[in-house]
Amino acid sequence: MYKKYYILIIIVFCIFLFSCKEDSYKYIPKPFSAILPIYIDTAKSIGPLTSPFGNPITYEGIELGRKLFYDTRLSGNNSISCANCHQQQFAFGDNKQFSTGFNTTLTSRNSPQVFNAAWDKDFFWDGRRKSLESQAHDPITSPGEMNGNWNSIIEQLQNDNRYPYMFYQAFGSGIIDSNMILKAIAQFERSMVSFNSKFDKYNLNKDSSVLTISELRGLEIYLRKGTCNSCHTLPLGRINHFANIGLEKGISDSGLYNITHLNEDIGKFKTPSIRNSSFTPPYMHNGKFKTMREVINFYNNDINNNHSNIDPHLRPLFSNKGSLSNQDIEDLLAFIKTLDDYSFITNPAYSNPR
Ligand code: HEC
Ligand code: HEC
Repeated sequence: MYKKYYILIIIVFCIFLFSCKEDSYKYIPKPFSAILPIYIDTAKSIGPLTSPFGNPITYEGIELGRKLFYDTRLSGNNSISCANCHQQQFAFGDNKQFSTGFNTTLTSRNSPQVFNAAWDKDFFWDGRRKSLESQAHDPITSPGEMNGNWNSIIEQLQNDNRYPYMFYQAFGSGIIDSNMILKAIAQFERSMVSFNSKFDKYNLNKDSSVLTISELRGLEIYLRKGTCNSCHTLPLGRINHFANIGLEKGISDSGLYNITHLNEDIGKFKTPSIRNSSFTPPYMHNGKFKTMREVINFYNNDINNNHSNIDPHLRPLFSNKGSLSNQDIEDLLAFIKTLDDYSFITNPAYSNPR
């Protein structure tokens, strides 16, 4: 009697073992590890590169995301990819005030740069998306950007000779769906890290011999008199902070208010990173300034402080217009250039895989 049960248990056990063995043949993607300067890894507010729950970052996912980022098949007429408006040579921004999307439609805001986005919480100038996965959905389907249609995108990718296997490697299934596409793109974006500037070499040991006298003076202006660091906080070059900086006399774009409908948010925009800014003109959500000198002149002389919610961090600048001397401005310009990371804009890991 009991013997029968033993045999049954042994059979069930064998089936279990066999199924485990089959499972172990499944491709396991390799977790990505980013090499970061120690002060990023250990900084309380920054910390190591992490992925959200449900989308761990892997080398296979990044490689797939990279291919998708550059693939025009994600658009309605196979002519536009993410990289049309987010170009590596411009730190994954664009050099135009507004970018050209589907059917030559112009975007209504300036294309922001994309790097160190793994440490970002809000996406778009008005912060309307809270993850890179959900962000990427919008340009793909937006009629004025890529005007893509998920069914036709998936059909094309499914019929490609490489994609199904790449999806299998990254996500364990070769049956492609839109979620996997968005996850892979987000992984690629999270892998874009940029901490290899002259400033980073200085910051590692606070070695002042790395910077020139003018650059060091510029850093002082940046931290104190210029108040820049209160929003464009180093070492990331920004904090998660929305601010009305008095860019315009009136308000033609309500920014964060469009999302929250709170009066206190009128004219507030996400603080962009100051890193790599030599590569990212024109500046601001409306691409209003062509050069960094124009930006600094604005902060020094032209902040419109007639807004009720103008950011108080800017008070030293707008209540004492022109407080930065010509020398201060030259030094500040020199310092901001030390935040440029040339290895980022030439790193083959982020280029078009063809
Ligand atoms: C036609 C040009 C265009 C295309 C194509 C495009 N973008 Fe953008 N992207 C923009 C503009 C403009 C914004 C800012 C819009 C806003 O804030 O309202 C933006 C914002 C973003 C942001 C937010 C950055 C930040 O700092 O908040 C990310 C990330 C991004 N795009 C990634 C992508 C990805 C991924 C694709 C492809 C799936 C893509 N973009 C396709 C123009 C484009
Ligand atoms: C109160 C917070 C705050 C302070 C202080 C501040 N900024 Fe900004 N900065 C912002 C915000 C927010 C934006 C985006 C505004 C917009 O587009 O409407 C911005 C935009 C910029 C841009 C454009 C970046 C891009 O990619 O378009 C540059 C450059 C810049 N600031 C430099 C500086 C400098 C230099 C200082 C110091 C003199 C400074 N900022 C002080 C919040 C601040």
